[in-house]
Amino acid sequence: MWTGSIRQGGGALEDIVSLTPIGEPRRKITVASLRENKLQHQPITCLTAYDYASARLVDESSIDIVLVGDSLAMTMLGYPDTLSVTVDEMLHHARAVRRGVKHALLVADMPYGSYHVGADDAVRNAARFMKEAGAEAVKIEGGEKRADLIRRVIDAEIPVAGHIGLTPQSVNVMGGYKVQGKSLAEIEQLMRDAVALDRAGVALLFLEGIPREVAAMITAEVATPTIGIGAGPDCDGQVLVFHDILNLTFAQPAKFVRRYGDAAALIVDAVQSFRADVISHQYPLDGESYHLSKETQQALETVLVRKRGMHR
Ligand code: KIV
Repeated sequence: MWTGSIRQGGGALEDIVSLTPIGEPRRKITVASLRENKLQHQPITCLTAYDYASARLVDESSIDIVLVGDSLAMTMLGYPDTLSVTVDEMLHHARAVRRGVKHALLVADMPYGSYHVGADDAVRNAARFMKEAGAEAVKIEGGEKRADLIRRVIDAEIPVAGHIGLTPQSVNVMGGYKVQGKSLAEIEQLMRDAVALDRAGVALLFLEGIPREVAAMITAEVATPTIGIGAGPDCDGQVLVFHDILNLTFAQPAKFVRRYGDAAALIVDAVQSFRADVISHQYPLDGESYHLSKETQQALETVLVRKRGMHR
């Protein structure tokens, strides 16, 4: 079993940004400022974004972390799970997100297969996210067994976010998307995973699909800020998938998802209204059309009259 208490981390007070009142200029979110959030018990917010528009909307809403999650395999590309998405596909989306994010910390997911072959390969792929997409950290799934590999990536000056609990890239090993850490043996393993990644020096620790009580223990145990998804309210921060909170997934939401808007209804309503207006000649109206100047129109009429005269 794990031992020990919460350790103290570093970080400058002027880096704290979460208390910035709405409307005031925002400061850049950094790994150090997020650590300060944990020490000051200021909740950290994180949402996924996969393209320029969603990235701008999320960043301009003062969310602390924008995650280019490999969940884009399902939400953006229509794959059945996260396994098929490639590094090049992830990079394509991460670059678009980079163009839309000014203040949030930009974290990109390392997709399945991009760090499983060996540490050299992991460093090479992680460096691509930093160089080609301007990511500020990469996220790698897995606990204790990935600690050495994660150390290698961090040694290459690449901040890493860990991700433990229900790790979607292990769906075939887990036998489905199941809540993890329900038995004493699983709890012990999760604590070992968390402590190993904390010691390896991860910048953030994502906790997915684990009981609230276990997430609370991990959060109290590690110096790393924990970001929960389906892990209860006691984490240092919370992450949700952009498409989940907006009802854009075409699927039954998980228990932990709260829908904050119905973009699907909004979009369908707009699209159907457009279709109806075109069919009924209500779109475009004269006011939505470009017009010739009076002089050009008169000149055009003169030309047309002359042409008609020539053809008589
Ligand atoms: O891919 C993803 O969206 C994630 C989550 C933590 C939400 O990894």
